[in-house]
Amino acid sequence: MTTSLNKSKPKLGILISGRGSNMQAIATAINNKALHASITVVVANTAKAVGIEIAQGMGLTTTVITRKQFATQNDFESAMLAALQNAGVDCVILAGYNRILGQMILNAYPNRILNIHPSLLPKYGGKGMVGMAVHEAVLDAGEAESGCTVHLVNAVIDGGEILAQHRVPVLEGDTSLALAKRVLQAEHMLYPAVIADYCKML
Ligand code: GRF
Repeated sequence: MTTSLNKSKPKLGILISGRGSNMQAIATAINNKALHASITVVVANTAKAVGIEIAQGMGLTTTVITRKQFATQNDFESAMLAALQNAGVDCVILAGYNRILGQMILNAYPNRILNIHPSLLPKYGGKGMVGMAVHEAVLDAGEAESGCTVHLVNAVIDGGEILAQHRVPVLEGDTSLALAKRVLQAEHMLYPAVIADYCKML
């Protein structure tokens, strides 16, 4: 009989563009055995991504693949896909990745790409809704709560199936920075937990 204990670990490929704190939370969950998976590659689309150093410090394999290295978007996507496939990746985790994934990668990993977004989707998602713009829009609208959403990735920006959300309150006198910090703490709890559940179904 096959049990979850002897099932092979799903291989994750994490795509980042910046600070990498969600990547770090996922790697920490794996180290703490809260998440039964392995990270076989961390790919950044800019050498400036601080997360690359964090990943290396945690002993993870990293690679930097930038759009500028290639003549066409297609060539860039092919290189990204090759990096994921060469690392045997089963599931792609977007963790602060700032480019829209093209059809080549979407087709290669149907229902196997996850993203985290710092709002309660479908609110405050879509084109341009990134970083502090999200939290500013939440505050401008006078929302009483915000949060984060983990969803499957498809061709619609922030439009794939929602897997889970974590709500946080908007507090009296909140600045966008304070709200961003509260939401990010929620992200670090939600993302590893959702990936753990997701991996159990693979
Ligand atoms: C997070 O707020 C996430 O919701 C969004 O990008 C940010 C990435 O932060 N998609 P980090 O690089 O994981 O620290």
